Amino acid sequence: MAFLFGVFKNLFCIFAQIISVLEEKKIIITIDGWSSCGKSTLAKQLAKKLGYIYIDSGAMYRAITLYFLRNHVDWTDGKEVTEALSNISLEFEYNPASDKSEILLNGENVEYVIRDLVIAEKVSDIAAIKEVRAFAVTQQQKMGEKKGIVMDGRDIGTVVFPDAALKIFMTADNAVRVERRFKELYDKNPNITIEEVKSNLEMRDYIDSHREISPLKKADDAIILDNTMLTEKQQLDMAVSWAKGLI
Ligand code: DC
Repeated sequence: MAFLFGVFKNLFCIFAQIISVLEEKKIIITIDGWSSCGKSTLAKQLAKKLGYIYIDSGAMYRAITLYFLRNHVDWTDGKEVTEALSNISLEFEYNPASDKSEILLNGENVEYVIRDLVIAEKVSDIAAIKEVRAFAVTQQQKMGEKKGIVMDGRDIGTVVFPDAALKIFMTADNAVRVERRFKELYDKNPNITIEEVKSNLEMRDYIDSHREISPLKKADDAIILDNTMLTEKQQLDMAVSWAKGLI
């Protein structure tokens, strides 16, 4: 009996060690960069390749913006902002049809509504509010507690996960970014003009990189990935090799 107990105890210890080694192997990968340079495309593909969870942090700011617009929240009033945030619940839910996790705002799937230009026009202002940032960052950090996550945004490598094992800072030629975003939005709204898209991107980049709290900037230890001349496959291969070197 004592012998059997010893065997089971040893087996349990070995099993626990294997689990902890496997868990340690998981890392946090952050992808920051300018609007429309392909962060979410890379983040989603990289997460899939590694069996990690992908979190689109921009979707959280967009969903908060949608809530503020729908509920006529005066976001210049700190009290109103705090009150509104206390009524917001954000969750991600995997949708097999789109093969990605989609955002739920108080239980409603708003993944597609938040991509509208109406939201894009206001989101940078709302993402610059300190209460909004604190609200989103706390939730993002919780999502990374178990590691095994790829998160894209503007301040993920600098503020949300400053100790992340792999940080990528993405950039691409301005004209290429405008063209990519235009194609994406034109499919949904053929009335959109390239000038509208260009001015929205320029405005967001300016506000995102000049705001007081957590402005967009490259973390000192981030690797720059300029994908102007790269295919999706080439950029994915690069990122996978960086990640594999750390796992
Ligand atoms: O990645 P995106 O374009 O969906 O992001 C929408 C806006 O949200 C972007 O203009 C800036 C803001 N954002 C942010 O401030 N911090 C993040 N981590 C992610 C997005």
